[in-house]
Amino acid sequence: MSAEKASWKRIQDVIWVKSFLGKGHYTPSGGTRRLNNLWEHVYLFVKDKNEYKIEPKSIGIPYTDKSNIGRYSDTDLRDPGNVWLIPYIKTTGATVKKGHEAPFPIGLPYKCIKLVPNVKTVLDPFGGTCSTLAACLILGVKGYAYEKYPRVEVIKSRILEGKEFQESEENLIPHLELSIKLLNNLLSDSSIQSPAIKSKAELNYYQILNNVLNNLNLDNSFKRSIQKRIEHFKKSLLQKKEQENKYRQTKLDFKS
Ligand SMILES: C[S@@+](CC[C@H](N)C(=O)[O-])C[C@H]1O[C@@H](n2cnc3c(N)ncnc32)[C@H](O)[C@@H]1O
Repeated sequence: MSAEKASWKRIQDVIWVKSFLGKGHYTPSGGTRRLNNLWEHVYLFVKDKNEYKIEPKSIGIPYTDKSNIGRYSDTDLRDPGNVWLIPYIKTTGATVKKGHEAPFPIGLPYKCIKLVPNVKTVLDPFGGTCSTLAACLILGVKGYAYEKYPRVEVIKSRILEGKEFQESEENLIPHLELSIKLLNNLLSDSSIQSPAIKSKAELNYYQILNNVLNNLNLDNSFKRSIQKRIEHFKKSLLQKKEQENKYRQTKLDFKS
C-alpha cells in the first residue's frame, strides 16, 4: 500500500456497511455474475505508532445485557467493533471530471476522528467534497485534504452541511420507526402505565425498552412511567444493599 511505503502506519481497518437490509443507498455494481457491493474498507493510518491511543467508548454502543454495566464498564457504553453501519443516504449526482463522485457520510470520518481523542491533525488524501474536513470542524480538530480536482463551491457547501450533523443510532427492523410512532400515538392517548419491576432480570428488559424509546425520541406518559419504575427499582436495590451493609456492620460491632 503506497501510504505504508510513505511510512504511514496502518492501525485500523474498518468495514463501512453503507446499506443493509434495504437501508441505505449503494451504487448497483452487480448483475448476473456477482452481487452488489454494500460495504467498503476504511483504513486509518498514523504517523507515529507510539503516539496514538484509541478510546473505543468515545464511539461506544450500549450494552444489550445491562447487568454488564458496573462489571465491565462504569457506563452503558462498550466497544462498537470494527464493522460500522452508517446508511448512505445522499448522492449528489454531480461529477468530478470523469465518473461520479462518491462522498461518504460525514458520520464516517466523524467516528474515525472521535475514536482517537488525542488526535492533533487529520489528513484525507482523497478529499472529494471534503466530508472529512466537515467532520474535523465539528470536532474542533485541524484537518487537511488533497484533491486532484477541487471544486471549491461543493467543498464549501459540504463543510457548511457539517453544521447540521447529528449523531444517530440505526435500527434495522423494516417499518420499526413507523410502528413505534403509531404505538407512541396510541400510548399518548391512553392511561396505560408500566407495571412494577419485580426482579433484576425485569430491570434489564425495561432498561432496554427505555433505551429504544429514548433513541426514537419518544416522550409520553408510558415512557415516563417506565423511567419512574426503573428509578424506583434501582433505589430499592440500593436501599437493600445499604441495609445489608448496616446489618453486616452491626454484626461486626457486636463481635468486637
Ligand atoms: C471517492 S472520492 C472521495 C470522496 C470523499 N470521501 C467525500 O466524502 O467527498 C475520491 C476522490 O479522490 C480524488 N483523487 C483521486 N486520485 C487522487 C490523487 N492522486 N490525488 C488527489 N486526489 C485524488 C478524486 O478526484 C475524488 O474526488
